[in-house]
Amino acid sequence: MYKTYYGLKENPFNVNPDPRYLFMTPEFEEAFSGLTYGIQTRKGIISLTGEVGTGKTTLVNRLLDWLQQHRGKTAFLFNSRMNSVQLFDFVLAEFGIACDSQSKSNRLMKLNQWLLDRFRAGETAILIIDEAQNLTFPVLEEIRMLTNLETSTQKLLQIVLSGQPELEEKLKLPELRQLRQRIMLRCKTRPLTKQQTHDYVCERLRIAGASTSGQPIFSAKATEIVHLYSLGIPRVINLLCENSLINGYVEQKLPIEPDTVEAVAREFQLDEVEPIAPPASLQPGTDVYSSEAFIQNLGEALSRFRLSTTRESLPSRGRK
Ligand SMILES: Nc1ncnc2c1ncn2[C@@H]1O[C@H](COP(=O)(O)OP(=O)(O)O)[C@@H](O)[C@H]1O
Ligand SMILES: [Mg+2]
Repeated sequence: MYKTYYGLKENPFNVNPDPRYLFMTPEFEEAFSGLTYGIQTRKGIISLTGEVGTGKTTLVNRLLDWLQQHRGKTAFLFNSRMNSVQLFDFVLAEFGIACDSQSKSNRLMKLNQWLLDRFRAGETAILIIDEAQNLTFPVLEEIRMLTNLETSTQKLLQIVLSGQPELEEKLKLPELRQLRQRIMLRCKTRPLTKQQTHDYVCERLRIAGASTSGQPIFSAKATEIVHLYSLGIPRVINLLCENSLINGYVEQKLPIEPDTVEAVAREFQLDEVEPIAPPASLQPGTDVYSSEAFIQNLGEALSRFRLSTTRESLPSRGRK
């Protein structure tokens, strides 16, 4: 285990959304403020977009925590592959609205009544959909219709659509013109800068128990290389650093220098990536992609469980 060798209590670069590891950059803070402002001022629909691995789901989890503390009633859909009927099923189930009728108009009326009750009680209801780039046109149209539920002055349901840049492209299509016009606020997650990447790596190591007074685990030059190959995308930074720790331990390297990180980047073919293309490790068809996707889905499912039952953090899931 590399943990003992590097003086760590846990794996610093797990990809599960553990709130203790939340790293706040000004850009992340800005996106978070945008979301909370939009919800508080009942803007209706808010979009959150950013490249794969830049922290959208992390931000949504942070938002769910915040909403729980602010008496928000949330429905969080992280599986966006659904049809219109399933959308209603999910929304009613997530909000805990009982409805025996299968008729759409009855279900909509129930939802409307429930939203009005929440509004009168001074509560805000929020529907959050992650991976929203996968939503089909009919489902997006239903979502637009949900924003018609309103009092004479206020939107009753706040909606956050979180997704990859394809979501923005989709919303530009003429078929979705009406939906696009209802998006009152657009928030974005962005890759980390070189300095932020360095600080992110140090901060994760510190939280995992690394000594802050002794020898750094990654040399400053090594974190520069991490930035170069990860393009500042946190998920790829985690992948590079985790594997550099494993290889660094095998080779007994302290501190970890650029050559170790470079070897990992080559192993995952990150050295063949065009600067603006998604990293090869995240493209479909590779083992890394499936395991990353699996871990992400599992992490999200677990975090929902965590939010609804206990506020304790999750046990860490090591790769070794
Ligand atoms: N602001 C952040 N603070 C800490 N870790 C982050 C942050 N943003 C991203 N990460 C890490 O990167 C991983 C991928 O982020 P994620 O939120 O799943 O990205 P996206 O949903 O945009 O694909 C997370 O599981 C987490 O480990
Ligand atoms: Mg995500």
